[in-house]
Amino acid sequence: MDKSEFEFDLFDPQQTQNMWDKMQRMRQECPVAQPAEGFFYTSRYQDTQRVFRDSRTFSCEGGFRAAGVVIPDDELFLAEMDAPLHPRLRKLLLKSFNPGMAKGAESFTQSYIEQLLSALKSKGGGDIVGEVSARVPLAVTGHVLGIPLSDIAELSAQFFALLHTDWPAYGVKDREHPDVGRDIAGSAPELAEYFDRMIDARRSGKVQNDDLVSQMVQADIEGDQLSTERIRSLAINFLSAGLSTTNLISNLYYRMIESDDFARTLRDDPDLIPVAVDESLRFEPPVLFLFRTAMHDAEIADTAIKPGDRLVTGIASANRDESVFERANEFRLNAADPEHLAFGAGPHLCLGNHMARMEGRVAVEEFFRQFAPGQVQLEPSYKYHLMPHFLEYGPERLDVVVRADA
Ligand code: HEM
Repeated sequence: MDKSEFEFDLFDPQQTQNMWDKMQRMRQECPVAQPAEGFFYTSRYQDTQRVFRDSRTFSCEGGFRAAGVVIPDDELFLAEMDAPLHPRLRKLLLKSFNPGMAKGAESFTQSYIEQLLSALKSKGGGDIVGEVSARVPLAVTGHVLGIPLSDIAELSAQFFALLHTDWPAYGVKDREHPDVGRDIAGSAPELAEYFDRMIDARRSGKVQNDDLVSQMVQADIEGDQLSTERIRSLAINFLSAGLSTTNLISNLYYRMIESDDFARTLRDDPDLIPVAVDESLRFEPPVLFLFRTAMHDAEIADTAIKPGDRLVTGIASANRDESVFERANEFRLNAADPEHLAFGAGPHLCLGNHMARMEGRVAVEEFFRQFAPGQVQLEPSYKYHLMPHFLEYGPERLDVVVRADA
């Protein structure tokens, strides 16, 4: 077999978002492909799940940062932590991130989406990605954290500005230019101050609430409280991790608007809405793959892995593994499947999975409440383009026309 056939540029969205046929061939012919020197892409379900689950062999270290960058311990995101810190923090956070959190946020989510869809309706249409699906996750995660909706627009601007600084890649103060802040407080001082005020108000008892920031303030790990930097970083971690929900909502909306049959099936049987949410996550996962680093020698599907090798967990391919999912290359609403890998697996399984599922379901339910069948149509000149991001999958825009009520 000529393995070079399966080389691809992991950082080029044109390639990573359009390789369903290549993935199918990889699963059959080359289950561990080498897209580039030092990178190993697992295309089958079992292998991908194993890499996610075995966090001792396949570490999160390095995460999405530039090579060699060491992040201050208190500013690490969960998905870049290993044991022993990760399981300790995770155990504590799981007390909050449970189905009850999603249930508690449901009525806020309903009324917020209703408000966004109704605004779209009164204008006769617009870009449903920018005006609805991209706005839901920040507002809902913000609500859970204890951020009032009236602060969200301002805070979102600061948050997106932070994502466009050097901070995601470097996350530390530049040692050669110590005046140039690249940690969170240096990169986004107003955002850091906002969270620090929230945290102080809860520490001092000025604000007494049961929101997530309050829960983190009250939590302790073996008698030690979480530091202000840790709570602030985790809050920003939750806001940014939740952003993938935009793609989930947009993918569902696109399918509903584009296919009358699909929309009718869900309208006629609302019990199928949660099924459609999970099928969307399987069939077109918002996150296409993630990275790990091998800590020890290992073997996956007869391929030798050496310490330092980078593993690419092929979520999108694993979710269409024909040996696991019936009619894997179709969008189905009637299959009894094992769990898809859209939320990862094992010790780092998405903490927000209950929240994401609730947001996806409510987005569909509210759409049906707001609009009659066929009332929302794609603009005649609309062209489908995916978000130009190498590991994301969802439309960049969805320009729609909303007809006046009959
Ligand atoms: C459809 C939407 C979402 C998708 C597809 C998604 C996907 C994922 C995936 C694949 C991981 C595993 C990361 C890894 O193994 O390296 C993950 C982790 C995580 N997700 Fe999500 N996520 C979504 C929504 C959310 C939401 C709404 C939140 C929070 C409100 C959230 C919070 C997190 C956190 C905190 C982690 C890190 C968990 C850990 O490392 O222990 N996610 N997510």
